[in-house]
Amino acid sequence: MCGIVGYLGPTPAASVLLSELKCLEYRGYDSAGVAMIENGQLMVLKTAGKLANLENLLNEKSPGATWGIGHTRWATHGIPNDQNAHPHTDCTGTIALVHNGIIENYDLLRDELIATGHTFHSETDTEVASHLIEEEYKNAEGDMILAIRQAAKRLKGAYALGIVSPAHPEIIYAVNQHYSLAVGIGDGECFLASDSVAVRQYTNKVIRLEQSEIAQITMHGVRLFSFEGDEVTRRPQVLDMNPMIMDKQGYRHYLHKEIHEQPIILRQTLSKYLANCDKPLDLSPAHMTFAPESIDLDPSNYGVSFTDQELRSVERVSVVACGTAYHAGLVGKYIIEELCGIPVDVEIASEIRGRRMLVNNKTLAIAVSQSGETADTIAALSEAKANGAFTLGITNRPDSHLARVTSNLIVTECGIEVSVAATKTFVAQVACFYLLAIYLAEKRGTIDLQKAKALKLDLLRVPSLQEKVLASEEYIKEKAVQYSEAKAVVFIGRGLSYPIALEGALKLKELSYIHASGYAAGELKHGPIAVLDSQMPVITILIPGSVYDKTLSNAQEAKARHAKMIAVAQESDPEAKKTFETILPIPAVSEFLSPMVSVLPLQLFSYFVADYLGKDVDQPRNLAKSVTVE
Ligand code: F6R
Repeated sequence: MCGIVGYLGPTPAASVLLSELKCLEYRGYDSAGVAMIENGQLMVLKTAGKLANLENLLNEKSPGATWGIGHTRWATHGIPNDQNAHPHTDCTGTIALVHNGIIENYDLLRDELIATGHTFHSETDTEVASHLIEEEYKNAEGDMILAIRQAAKRLKGAYALGIVSPAHPEIIYAVNQHYSLAVGIGDGECFLASDSVAVRQYTNKVIRLEQSEIAQITMHGVRLFSFEGDEVTRRPQVLDMNPMIMDKQGYRHYLHKEIHEQPIILRQTLSKYLANCDKPLDLSPAHMTFAPESIDLDPSNYGVSFTDQELRSVERVSVVACGTAYHAGLVGKYIIEELCGIPVDVEIASEIRGRRMLVNNKTLAIAVSQSGETADTIAALSEAKANGAFTLGITNRPDSHLARVTSNLIVTECGIEVSVAATKTFVAQVACFYLLAIYLAEKRGTIDLQKAKALKLDLLRVPSLQEKVLASEEYIKEKAVQYSEAKAVVFIGRGLSYPIALEGALKLKELSYIHASGYAAGELKHGPIAVLDSQMPVITILIPGSVYDKTLSNAQEAKARHAKMIAVAQESDPEAKKTFETILPIPAVSEFLSPMVSVLPLQLFSYFVADYLGKDVDQPRNLAKSVTVE
């Protein structure tokens, strides 16, 4: 989604802003722009499309400015075109502003500002902010902080702003209201970024803006103010610099690299907790290390710090998440219910809005989010917290908004995921659910020591099973090409393979733009079977175990309708060989641990279909990595 950057220092701003913006590309965007000030003149360059278009504009003008702000826009109000791209200016052309989030009362403010003589040039909600600051500035006697404070108090919603004006040389102003914004502190230079990933190449010191704060940034540092005008002091945090970040390491696409990273990540996550399989698991802060993108916040903020009494009092678990993270939550439901005997409901976070959330002080509310910035997920967890639930976050980003909202946090050991489509973060989230379920089961006495030990040892074997799947990728590629003409694809699975069917369908449609739907295999006959014919591939996830026979019967129903039969199954499975024309092979794996293995052939299949069709696999159209609007 939208990204904000800024730079103030001795180097030409254009190249720094561009390289910061490139780091935010992975979040998804449809237009980009910069505002810089040179010799007291404001220069705004913005354009629809990829950053290459902005780079061309910058090359044409080759500005020498050493101070400016930049933006990547993901359209919400108004189509992606040059006019709607940020930055936006006021009527005097002396205030330029970039914006993330949504200004909910923009309609009202726009009417009011038009009535007082302001002229608007875009369809965005953003533009009201620049005109509102202009209006407030008239009465602020040159005090920009005052003008911004007064304007910010009138803007409703969650948002972040970056602002420059030639009237205030060598200063960038920034505003944070329920959003994410960080100032990077260099040596005689400062940076602004909505995601610290963008400043990491320049500095490892950041100051994060808290809610309702304004920053005044100069080359030599930053001053922070509350919306009420009180000055706030905060020490910089030190980022853990990881040179492996944002590097394709020889792969053509981040997505392909990230699919291949899964065994390593799983090993890292598991080895952190399972060094001694004879002992009960410990998810407490003492065990937490930091993911590569983490920052040195107080470690006591991380890990699970519930008392045993609290854990025993939990009567219900409520998981909230969106998209792929929601599918990880569905796997989590099966695992926790099986090991702990606690009922688990999993909700699409956006569906919590506008209705009663039935949680209380005996509910453990878990928010799952790779970015930790998903507005719907954070809103749902906040609602659960307000209703007295215990809260826990599972995220890849300990420096995220989610980390600040929840009182307990399990950090997945993934490193940053650059490809917009989630792969390695899914497997890591699922792994955390296994660990959490074992932890809860041990604390509540619902698993005996021998069973717990056997399960932990089995978990440690999963990475090598994943490696076997990855080793067969050339075969999966061949099959992906064979089915790439499909107009639509159906995925089916039962039990723990049902969320994998959903995830397989989501991966295929977001990467290849081929319509795909995932169903509980038993549901096929209750409607979806109507779409089957000889042109329709049906992919069945068929794992030996409690629902094997029934899944096979459901696949037979598809076969009887002449569907093209594909399975994720063990190659040696005689029934699978008889039933399916194509098997995407997986090694023998227990039904209980299968999701972390069976999802891999589907990720690879989707990747190869999309790549063969020439799609932008790392940044599929219309998608954003960090979904910060509701
Ligand atoms: C799909 C995908 C999305 C995200 C969803 C939630 O590949 O990436 O469905 O899973 O937008 O995002 P997070 O996990 O950041 O909350």
